[in-house]
Amino acid sequence: MKVLVVGNGGREHALAWKLAQSPRVDRVFVAPGNAGTALEAENVDIPATDVPRLVAFARQNEVDLTVVGPEASLAAGIVDALQEAGLRAFGPSKAAADLESSKVFCKNLLRQADVPTADYHVFHSAKEAIAFLKDRDDVPVVVKADGLAAGKGVIVCGNREQALEAVNRIAEQKEFGPAGDQLVIEERLQGQEASVLAITDGNTLITLPPCQDHKPAFDGDTGPNTGGMGAYCPTPLLSDAMLHMIEERILVPTVHQMKRSRRPFRGVLYAGLMVQNQGMKVLEYNVRFGDPECQPLLMRLKSDLLALLEATADGRLDEITLPEWDPRPAVCVVMASEGYPGSYERGQPIRGLDEAAKLPDVKVFHAGTSTRDSQVVTDGGRVLGVTALGSSISAAKLQAYTGVKAIRFSGAWCRKDISDKALLYQ
Ligand code: AMP
Ligand code: GLY
Repeated sequence: MKVLVVGNGGREHALAWKLAQSPRVDRVFVAPGNAGTALEAENVDIPATDVPRLVAFARQNEVDLTVVGPEASLAAGIVDALQEAGLRAFGPSKAAADLESSKVFCKNLLRQADVPTADYHVFHSAKEAIAFLKDRDDVPVVVKADGLAAGKGVIVCGNREQALEAVNRIAEQKEFGPAGDQLVIEERLQGQEASVLAITDGNTLITLPPCQDHKPAFDGDTGPNTGGMGAYCPTPLLSDAMLHMIEERILVPTVHQMKRSRRPFRGVLYAGLMVQNQGMKVLEYNVRFGDPECQPLLMRLKSDLLALLEATADGRLDEITLPEWDPRPAVCVVMASEGYPGSYERGQPIRGLDEAAKLPDVKVFHAGTSTRDSQVVTDGGRVLGVTALGSSISAAKLQAYTGVKAIRFSGAWCRKDISDKALLYQ
């Protein structure tokens, strides 16, 4: 069987690596892929959002299943286009992907489904938003651009002045383009964040072990927000009882409401949660595997990923046996380019990858890398996801950082405290 993975990050390397292990998979293509996926699979030089060319490729090469990584491809309607061409795809339709690509749609759906989330207001102009902020108490809020903005359209504000500035950036300066045509202003929540991913075909839902991401750039959760500087799985922050509650009160009602809204959801439903003493609230939904969360998650998956994704695409998730997980936790540390999440240079040669690959229970997933004159070089802000299994979270952390130490490139840096938050709960 032939599989196509769409995307070029650490998530897609992990997906390609795992799918290539399936006894039923003969060939894995990755479009466009990176230097790491090239070792595991066959890279195809088509951008992840070039839907017509991807569909043509899948048709010409008789691809049996296309697995879509990034939200931009889903929002561009890749799953609809593949299905119209009679091809199978894993991921939600464009209409269902609005759960991530429109914060206004997401918040309204959560309200309709009675799923706990921060109180919010929607605005269609900067003027309305400014009037609202001036009229109410000076309390911390979060200002969000409605549309996709590569994770940057969310501005957490401590006071009114910062909130007014955020409104200005999003709705007046249009820093994020049309994503800022509508705004959400919501109550700022306190607590610990967790990522709970589930796989659903719209009828059956399988919750995956919970993960914790590290979004701020620097140690101790300081500095600007990034796509995620590291993640670990499972997180002790959520007990089995809490996970059960998340399923019952958050995930299942969301899937039902999507069905009622005539946007049946198939694929990965990723709830970004704020865990508080009083309970849990949804911060956001993503409609795909998280990156880097996908890396420690798939490192722990013992059963066949293909079976899970295929059954989802076919709407027969109720028929498969539950996935089996390695009891050992996994930690993923992101190595980034100097300057990330701001501007950075590309093309720095990366050394030590072979040495890191020899370490037991370590897998180095590539994110922003490419090959130049048969040398692996940096080609993005998040360059590598060094992922390790260990007998405990601390052991996995130690092993991941042993991997990090083996790898060198000019300007390389990483957070030193990935997974330390877990220690608070053990
Ligand atoms: P989102 O893309 O909506 O998840 O927002 C990105 C990040 O902003 C989240 O991971 C949180 O760290 C933060 N955030 C979003 N909404 C809130 C909120 N209501 N209260 C506090 N932090 C938030
Ligand atoms: N790690 C957060 C995300 O994938 O959006």
